[in-house]
Amino acid sequence: MDIKTYLNEKRLAVEDAMASCMLPAQGPLVSHMEAMRYSLFAGGKRVRPILCLAAAEALGTDPVPLLPVACALECIHTYSLIHDDLPAMDDDDLRRGKPTNHMVFGEAGAILAGDGLLTFAFDLISDPSLSDFISDTARLRLVQVISRAAGPLGMVGGQALDVASEGQEVDFETLRTIHRCKTGALITAAVQAGAIIGGADDDHYASLTTYGEAIGLAFQIFDDLLNVEGTTEELGKAAGSDADREKATYPAFFGVQATREKAQEAVATAIAALAGFDHRAEPLRELARYIINRKR
Ligand code: IPE
Ligand code: IPE
Ligand code: MG
Ligand code: MG
Repeated sequence: MDIKTYLNEKRLAVEDAMASCMLPAQGPLVSHMEAMRYSLFAGGKRVRPILCLAAAEALGTDPVPLLPVACALECIHTYSLIHDDLPAMDDDDLRRGKPTNHMVFGEAGAILAGDGLLTFAFDLISDPSLSDFISDTARLRLVQVISRAAGPLGMVGGQALDVASEGQEVDFETLRTIHRCKTGALITAAVQAGAIIGGADDDHYASLTTYGEAIGLAFQIFDDLLNVEGTTEELGKAAGSDADREKATYPAFFGVQATREKAQEAVATAIAALAGFDHRAEPLRELARYIINRKR
């Protein structure tokens, strides 16, 4: 299979679904809606929703009726980026090749756009129109898995530790926790959401969880590497910013070469976890390889 074609097709399907389920920019709340839509439709690889779809497909399930769940993951991810870029956090001006949300809508507008996207994600997941395609029990499990990953024990907790660790000498356990929480948790939850949609049994769920954790780690390790080796133009966000802000990263801790090896090891772990899956998991295997071969 050609991963580029696969990614492109899935990205377009996710973006079509987002266009139809996102709130329109009209009426008295128009500027808030515009602020949410600005970042959501600014581009982005759509890795988390695509992982969700690919995991369901690996189990032989057509995930199309549950595309709003995949869109919800992208809403949560986009909110995390808007807040990550705020002056009080990473203070970045460029994201997805465009001025960051607060540069266009102001700090209050950006904070609220993030709040809106996070909350709207759970509106999408709980929409009654999905009842024909998923049981209430499975849906409640989706809410638990995704909210746990996005919250204090996951992404938000990881972001708090990331910010607190700026300029500090951190040990490996802290660095590993930052990566597992700030990035790994939501990526793992995206795969788990696909597993729930696909009706995974306990063994398949555990294997997909191992896969998700490993690619989540690989993803952030490689994001750290891109920050060192990529250009601002390629990345669509500021290169070199981690060193400027003295962030806790793998290259800062291990150097570039060992970091690359650790990313490769994590991808090998992810692919090994899929041993019990047939050819329908090929997109997941290719996605794992793609994560450490991308340019942005
Ligand atoms: C960037 O995520 C932030 C991290 C968690 C490393 P992505 O690399 O998925 O960013 P987009 O969605 O493609 O812009
Ligand atoms: C990404 O952290 C984690 C989240 C946005 C939750 P980074 O700060 O390392 O990501 P980039 O490099 O700004 O995309
Ligand atoms: Mg950050
Ligand atoms: Mg950042």
